[in-house]
Amino acid sequence: MNADILKRLVRAIGEGAHEDLELLAKKVIQVERDTGHQKLAGELDRIFARARSQGASSTPPTLRELPSSRRNRELLVSVTPRDQLEHFMVLPPEVEERFARVEREYAARERLSAYGLRPRKRVLLHGPPGCGKSLGAKRLAWNTTLPLMKVKFDALLSSYFGESASNLRTVFEAAKERPCVLLLDECDFIARSRSTDRDVGEAARVVNALLQFLDEYDAPGILVATTNVEESLDEAIFRRFDDVFKVPLPGDREIEQLFRTTLSAVKISGQIDWATVIGSLKGLSAAYTVKAAQDAAKAAVLVGRKTVEEEDVRLAIDEIRRGKSL
Ligand SMILES: Nc1ncnc2c1ncn2[C@@H]1O[C@H](COP(=O)(O)OP(=O)(O)OP(=O)(O)O)[C@@H](O)[C@H]1O
Ligand SMILES: [Mg+2]
Repeated sequence: MNADILKRLVRAIGEGAHEDLELLAKKVIQVERDTGHQKLAGELDRIFARARSQGASSTPPTLRELPSSRRNRELLVSVTPRDQLEHFMVLPPEVEERFARVEREYAARERLSAYGLRPRKRVLLHGPPGCGKSLGAKRLAWNTTLPLMKVKFDALLSSYFGESASNLRTVFEAAKERPCVLLLDECDFIARSRSTDRDVGEAARVVNALLQFLDEYDAPGILVATTNVEESLDEAIFRRFDDVFKVPLPGDREIEQLFRTTLSAVKISGQIDWATVIGSLKGLSAAYTVKAAQDAAKAAVLVGRKTVEEEDVRLAIDEIRRGKSL
């Protein structure tokens, strides 16, 4: 190998300069190709592409690699560090299975593609607030080891003609370059996309662009969109996603499990009548259930009691119910 490449290679390894190493790998492949070693160059090319798509999934993108708007270089996405990805979820078994299937298909993506099959890559989560749509995206990122890239709609939407759509294109192109879970959180306008009003403003342009990018989406990672708006989900939406499913309110089993796991660090009185607790939390979101359990535990800890009593639980739930009805 050429002495100059060897020196640069050793220096880049010494400095841990990842980007230089990538450039050098490409250079080595090119040199082999230029010297007539086509077979070796082809093989190196394939090894590089495979290693890159596998390695990239676990390393978070650097700031420089994140998409930003052309006008003021504002970041168009935010990345959640892996150690901040909340991922424990309590779900009814059939919903747990829907999430797990997306994860299994992602893990088996190469085996599937050998048969000409595509893993589920575009997922729409819908359902009532506070039941785990945003959390579901984090969990998918955690279990696939993909970085979570959340689109910042406030930065993306611009008042300049056509700029929002071009920002959106930048985001989708970035997701192609580097595998990630691309999260379009609370994009209710997806569900409303079929509204009959003939809006021709910037908002309508971004919806149209989004629908088109969804149609064409073929990035190496997973796209997750979430919405609370369920009534207008229709065929046109279902067609654009590989999987659409509801993250529902917790049922009896889930309420008890949420309550118990939230209280797992403290002792719970054996006197608690779970049927009553479940009954009084029915219809509330998972987020409220977690909050009720935390409030009950805090009340006990604050008065120096080692055990959470039925009264703590009752008061915490009553307070949440009162707050909800205000
Ligand atoms: N299924 C769940 N299992 C465990 N904890 C949950 C679950 N759903 C919600 N939580 C708790 O409630 C919090 C809020 O949930 P999350 O942000 O995912 O709700 P959401 O469905 O995205 O709501 P919104 O529609 O308001 O955005 C989570 O951070 C978590 O603490
Ligand atoms: Mg949310």
